[in-house]
Amino acid sequence: DGAYDFDGEHQAGITTPVQRHLYFASLDMTAGATREDLISLLQEWTDAARQLTAGQEVGDTGAVDGSPLAPPDDTGEALGLGPHHLTVTFGLGPSLFTRDGDPFGIAARRPEALAPLPLFAFDLLEEPISGGDLCIQACADDPQVVVHAIRNLSRIAFGRAQVRWTRLGYGRTSRTSAEQQTPRNLFGFKDGTANILSDDAKALDRWVWADDGWMAGGSYLVARTIQMTIESWDRTRLEEQELVIGRSKGEGAPLSGGTEMTEPDLEMTSSTGGFAVPETSHVRLAHPDRNDGVQLLRRGYNYVDGNNDLGQITAGLFFLSFQRDPAQFVQVQNSLKTDALNEYIRHVGSALFAVPPGVRRGGYVGQGLFE
Ligand code: HEM
Repeated sequence: DGAYDFDGEHQAGITTPVQRHLYFASLDMTAGATREDLISLLQEWTDAARQLTAGQEVGDTGAVDGSPLAPPDDTGEALGLGPHHLTVTFGLGPSLFTRDGDPFGIAARRPEALAPLPLFAFDLLEEPISGGDLCIQACADDPQVVVHAIRNLSRIAFGRAQVRWTRLGYGRTSRTSAEQQTPRNLFGFKDGTANILSDDAKALDRWVWADDGWMAGGSYLVARTIQMTIESWDRTRLEEQELVIGRSKGEGAPLSGGTEMTEPDLEMTSSTGGFAVPETSHVRLAHPDRNDGVQLLRRGYNYVDGNNDLGQITAGLFFLSFQRDPAQFVQVQNSLKTDALNEYIRHVGSALFAVPPGVRRGGYVGQGLFE
């Protein structure tokens, strides 16, 4: 099974072809943790991430080769599985920089862009599944491999940082390379048709990679847990579903005509009046032409998380987007205020993280922040 190098110019897991499974963790630094704790944590996470992405066991003695009198370094459930294209991507939240008393000595180095996101129309955010000082995004083509990665990394954090919330995702909802077929989200529509692709160097430089100070070569990650009211969507006429999205359900073509990869014609009118790609459709409102040209690199996953008392499935989209400045997300999300989709979705979780640049061999993730 394939392995991706952990070290590189940029962290893996952004332009990497989207893998099938995700486990995402947001963590908070423990009360009383120091600058040394934070640095040693990032160093140990880097060492472990190098081992994990290479398909190796973590620590010096792994899962079964240590002393029988001590708990093993590695928890063991991924023994023999191989890397399955695992990527581990680390991020730092705004709250890490604004702690009372600045225990980590980094307040002055907070990038201006790393400020909490504003409250948007229809936001129904739940505190326990929002925010966080640190994040780890683990993506791979095997579910056990991503769980093993997060489990071992949070175990390493013990005493310095603790898990605040996690999200298990499956079935990528975007594509980041031209070879990948466009997957579908839980509304049954192709998702990720119009996305920034990994070979589009110009768009990546313009819209994804930050170029300022210690964040140069990094990016900003927006994570939104968006619940879908699956049952009401499933009772909606097909025609209505297509008008809400602005694309056909089968082919994924814009309602202005053509095939999946045809650019939507936002000026075209329909025979019944109004625009062919309706004024309140998701695709129209999210389109760069309606957002000063702004683009995002979307890399989200579906999630299912039990059911509620009415027997309705708790499911949705774990929306992940990478951008050089969170203002890009703010711009698009504000445009979606009049989105017909809002009747069927609810944003319940939100977080923003600065994703530092890639790690040089011998270095550790986020090192530039402490130099
Ligand atoms: C496009 C679904 C939330 C930004 C699309 C498409 C679908 C879709 C089916 C068309 C295919 C494609 O080009 O990918 C959804 C669903 C959402 C959701 C079901 C919530 C559960 C969001 C959010 C944002 C966003 C929160 C950003 C704030 C975009 C963008 C496009 C898009 C930028 C491409 C528009 C274009 O250039 O044509 N979405 N989306 N979406 N969506 Fe979403």
